[in-house]
Amino acid sequence: MTQDELKKAVAAAAIEMVKPAIFDGEIIGIGTGSTANFFIDLLAEFRDDIKGTVASSEASAQRLRSHGIEVIELNDAGTLGVYVDGADESNSHLELIKGGGAALTREKIVAAASKKFICIADESKLVDQLGAFPLPVEVIPMARSYVARELLKMGGNPVYREGVVTDNGNIILDVYDFMIATPQKTEEEINAIVGVVTNGLFALRPADVLLLGTSNGVREITP
Ligand code: A5P
Repeated sequence: MTQDELKKAVAAAAIEMVKPAIFDGEIIGIGTGSTANFFIDLLAEFRDDIKGTVASSEASAQRLRSHGIEVIELNDAGTLGVYVDGADESNSHLELIKGGGAALTREKIVAAASKKFICIADESKLVDQLGAFPLPVEVIPMARSYVARELLKMGGNPVYREGVVTDNGNIILDVYDFMIATPQKTEEEINAIVGVVTNGLFALRPADVLLLGTSNGVREITP
């Protein structure tokens, strides 16, 4: 199977998992990226049943609207029933690295506001230790050099993501060469650097379920 076929298979499995929330009238949180896009496209079939969605990026909001699916503001939504999103890496505890698409802060907010976080990914994303994928850090623009120096002190190699401005008007530093042995501690330490908006580690609020697309079918992994 191709990587896209694996992504589509996990998106279809996620649809089955969110159906009860849709028919219970719960608001659905929607992630960002190519795997989330497959999920959005399959969700279109339920456009008349969905009470509303909250998107973690402008790109996902536009795609949802193009299918006629209602998108509302998180501030008007209350607690979300379920959040569905991809990941750049996951370990077996369902601690994640996200933010390859630069939407990490909104993704983290929507995940935090959701009762259940379903992560959808192809098998290439499951790793023993997080960090081979460079860790995205969203930073207030004027703090870029200061935060980069602090990340260097922590042992990482931060690289400015040229030409990228987040939906919140900030910049991204991608931290290379940073194998992460204690994800919760690292998440807290990076968030404590002044000027950091958030970082792409989802360890303090990991996923609740990982639907992993493999050539032998979709595996459902829980921590
Ligand atoms: C977006 O900022 C990311 O967190 C994505 O969820 C992540 O990069 C996964 O994207 P793909 O599904 O395209 O691999």
